[in-house]
Amino acid sequence: MPVIDRLRPEDRDAAAALYRRVFGSDAAASSDLRWEWQYRDNPSSPGPEPMIWVAREGPSIVGQHATMPVRLWVHGRQIAASWGIDVVVAPERQRQGLGEILFGTWERNVGAALGIGLSPSSRGLFEKLRWPRLGPIPCLVKPLSRRAVKRAEWPEPLNRVVSAVALPYIRRVARPRPLGHEVRVIRQFDARFTALWERVAPKLDLAVQRDAPYLQWKYIAPPHVRYSVAALLDEGEPLGYVVYRHMREARSRVTLLVDFLVDPDDAAGLEALLRWVDREAAAADSDKIRCHCLHARFRRVLRRSGYFTRRSTLDFVVKINAWPVPASFYRRTDGWHIMLGDADLDR
Ligand SMILES: CC(C)(COP(=O)(O)OP(=O)(O)OC[C@H]1O[C@@H](n2cnc3c(N)ncnc32)[C@H](O)[C@@H]1OP(=O)(O)O)[C@@H](O)C(=O)NCCC(=O)NCCS
Repeated sequence: MPVIDRLRPEDRDAAAALYRRVFGSDAAASSDLRWEWQYRDNPSSPGPEPMIWVAREGPSIVGQHATMPVRLWVHGRQIAASWGIDVVVAPERQRQGLGEILFGTWERNVGAALGIGLSPSSRGLFEKLRWPRLGPIPCLVKPLSRRAVKRAEWPEPLNRVVSAVALPYIRRVARPRPLGHEVRVIRQFDARFTALWERVAPKLDLAVQRDAPYLQWKYIAPPHVRYSVAALLDEGEPLGYVVYRHMREARSRVTLLVDFLVDPDDAAGLEALLRWVDREAAAADSDKIRCHCLHARFRRVLRRSGYFTRRSTLDFVVKINAWPVPASFYRRTDGWHIMLGDADLDR
């Protein structure tokens, strides 16, 4: 039976070989590129060694459970938490209980365990372990051009008709509006953003702690993806920020709105940030803006700003271990601020 252990520096090659076998060479090269940033530079890491558990069989690594530590804010208290990322078991060892042992080891060692964007096998495993089911994080899309409403599964004539019918509406929601506030591009999250987080956090029921060291690491420092960041300012003081990037998909260009923070009572502030993103998306010739957002009041502002709710496949699981929570805790998620950028899915 394999031995479960923390990853040691000398295991890195064997763990990388397992990763390459299961996820392929491109994913392995990309994992290698972000490794130091992901596991050594994370300001929320509890120690210098990465929080990665491995299943060891002689000199081989036959399973890995890597995690991304974060501080989780839950109803006014802070928990040492982590996202489960890059969980993998060697194909010939799958369905023999190793995944269950690795998940159990992770859970026993963390105050709150978080997962997002599950694969069919990990979804099955979470179900077997009876983790609370929260459903997917709602997906909202704002169309900016007629290409935004085209669907790969529709025949071209149908796509042409739908996009022609939708065009006047799209033009109306996509037209530029005045910001009404000062919004500026930034490349540095300084201590003022920690103060912003401390002001806003008490109004959120659950969120990853978005202080300046975390934000700088997560959105400015990553070596594998480049984000744009803009801050909402009032006489130089930040009232909010937004993080986004533009990318090409199979049929269109999309601007991904990966994270934002404002006071949930400041709808006008969020509207200004969204208008800023509209302009940036238009300048980048994007066909749509896509955002995953759980917080109900933020979603209301998004919908008022021209976003539509689309079917989401972004499954989300969380399990609080730091203290007992009733089952109802997992059903009241309207005040939880979880977005795509929170985990490490956007790569
Ligand atoms: C996810 C993974 C780590 C699970 O490891 P594992 O050792 O096979 O897990 P276990 O043997 O403990 O399986 C426990 C349960 O998970 C579920 N499960 C595992 N593999 C599954 C699959 N391919 N399809 C559906 N459910 C699956 C089943 O409920 C299983 O219980 P059962 O065997 O009694 O039916 C492994 O399947 C894997 O490496 N998958 C490929 C990589 C991946 O998808 N990683 C997760 C990214 S989010």
